[in-house]
Amino acid sequence: MVIYGPLTPGQVSFFLGIMPICVAWIYSEYLEHWKNASSSKPGRNSDINLVELGEETVKEDDTAVLLEGGALQLASPRVRNSSVTSHIIRFLTLDESFLLENRLTLRAISEFGALLIYFYICDRTNLLGESKKSYNRDLFWFLYFLLIIVSAITSFKIHNDKSPFSGKMIMYLNRHQTEEWKGWMQVLFLMYHYFAATEIYNAIRVFIAAYVWMTGFGNFSYYYIRKDFSLARFIQMMWRLNFLVLFCCIVLNNSYMLYYICPMHTLFTLMVYGALGIFNKYNEQGTVIAGKIIACFLVVILIWEVPGVFELLWSPFTFLLGYADPDPSKAKHSPLHEWHFRSGLDRYIWIIGMIYAYYHPTVERWMEKLEEAEPKRRISIKMIVVIISLTIGYLWVEYIYKLPKITYNKYHPYTSWIPITVYISLRNVTQHFRSYTLTLFAWLGKVTLETYISQIHIWLRSGVPDGQPKLLLSLIPNYPLLNFMLTTSIYVAVSYRLFELTNTLKSAFVPTKDDKRLGHNLVVAVVIASILYTLSFVLLKVPQMLV
Ligand SMILES: *[C@@H]1O[C@H](CO)[C@@H](O)[C@H](O)[C@H]1NC(C)=O
Ligand SMILES: *[C@@H]1O[C@H](CO)[C@@H](O)[C@H](O)[C@H]1NC(C)=O
Repeated sequence: MVIYGPLTPGQVSFFLGIMPICVAWIYSEYLEHWKNASSSKPGRNSDINLVELGEETVKEDDTAVLLEGGALQLASPRVRNSSVTSHIIRFLTLDESFLLENRLTLRAISEFGALLIYFYICDRTNLLGESKKSYNRDLFWFLYFLLIIVSAITSFKIHNDKSPFSGKMIMYLNRHQTEEWKGWMQVLFLMYHYFAATEIYNAIRVFIAAYVWMTGFGNFSYYYIRKDFSLARFIQMMWRLNFLVLFCCIVLNNSYMLYYICPMHTLFTLMVYGALGIFNKYNEQGTVIAGKIIACFLVVILIWEVPGVFELLWSPFTFLLGYADPDPSKAKHSPLHEWHFRSGLDRYIWIIGMIYAYYHPTVERWMEKLEEAEPKRRISIKMIVVIISLTIGYLWVEYIYKLPKITYNKYHPYTSWIPITVYISLRNVTQHFRSYTLTLFAWLGKVTLETYISQIHIWLRSGVPDGQPKLLLSLIPNYPLLNFMLTTSIYVAVSYRLFELTNTLKSAFVPTKDDKRLGHNLVVAVVIASILYTLSFVLLKVPQMLV
């Protein structure tokens, strides 16, 4: 087995951290098994008893699944009261009741570790094969439309979620719809990477803009309506966005910027959070919101449009946001170039998302009135909306979309709202159309972050630290399509598991209403990470010094 690149202290720390947990988990499974076996011993070995026993186990598995789904910390009320340090002592001494109580968390961590090791094996060793990308427009669209047809046949669904404002109309831009929207864009985005479909580059830029638009839209609605600016909520949000990527950076020795979607969404989420969080008592007043939105525009103009400000502001963060492509032909850029380019492309669209979210109730009421209007009037207004949208969409395609990549990127920040708006208005033009969703795409839309991160390692292949994924993972050499099918299945399943594990671990480690315990957890996490890192550093350095 060839390993590309030397081991880093981070990788060794990960290994040192995950191994005891795996051992503890296996031991806890053993204890659990032994406990079940001994508790059901009482002698009577009739068939009936065996059947009952079987049912009992099934029930227990069910509760385990339920627990994994969310409320892990509720599982053991006693644990909540004891301190974090005592947890660690109980863990280190292999305290049996502690292991039993936390078996599911240990299992989740072990599974998470195993999946990351799979990432490493796929991407950084030559155990599995690799192959070249190839693009065939016919095949590309064949696969894409095949997926649409399949999901239309199997997962077409009509939703009847009523508007929270009036209870009458089907909400426009409801959750199903945004998830479906994310899903179909994500599939194209991923296939674009897999097949190197460079001819749809501009469309991909629009999709990324649409995700950022949704970040502005979703987060604005959430904070505006729920007004929950608590520390727990903040950490949960950061956990959701950065937990997996943090471990990928450690295990694969990559820069954060390799997964540019993550820093970008984190930044814009923080900006929405900041915009609404500052003086949030006054958010009810329209003028305050207007002022905040203007302030957002001014901040963006200052940072991205005034030459020099971007470098000045971000240079202290180069350690976090810097990126150097190992490909020598692209090495001429400054470390912050990638961050400047990526964040700059979508610098305005999150504010547009906030504006749309702010006017969402108004538009909804207006649409409700429209649905109640007499048919002739309703149909003519809808016709006008459709015609205007199509015309604008057509003009955008002709004059903006068709520009070559570099020129297009110059116009992109100022024009990406056009296709997004056109899509939104066409997507909701009738009540019926609004209520249809393809749930398969909505399902994929839920795991966009995980599919985005894992593709680089277990579907494509970069081979070296910080490398762009220029190759494909090949499990079945010489059968590109079969290989595509196999790697895709594994990849989607792993992504979905990672999504669930991120949530399971989030609910295990980020308590919702206990800031003190959250603070303890944070401190302990930092301490453990530092100890492991120091230890690994010494482990790696000492042999070198001896030589
Ligand atoms: C805020 O934005 C992030 C990034 O897109 C997203 O993951 C998260 O779900 C959003 N939060 C809400 C409440 O919509
Ligand atoms: C139509 O539905 C979409 C949801 O996909 C919504 O975003 C849009 O605003 C609706 N149309 C109009 C005219 O508002």
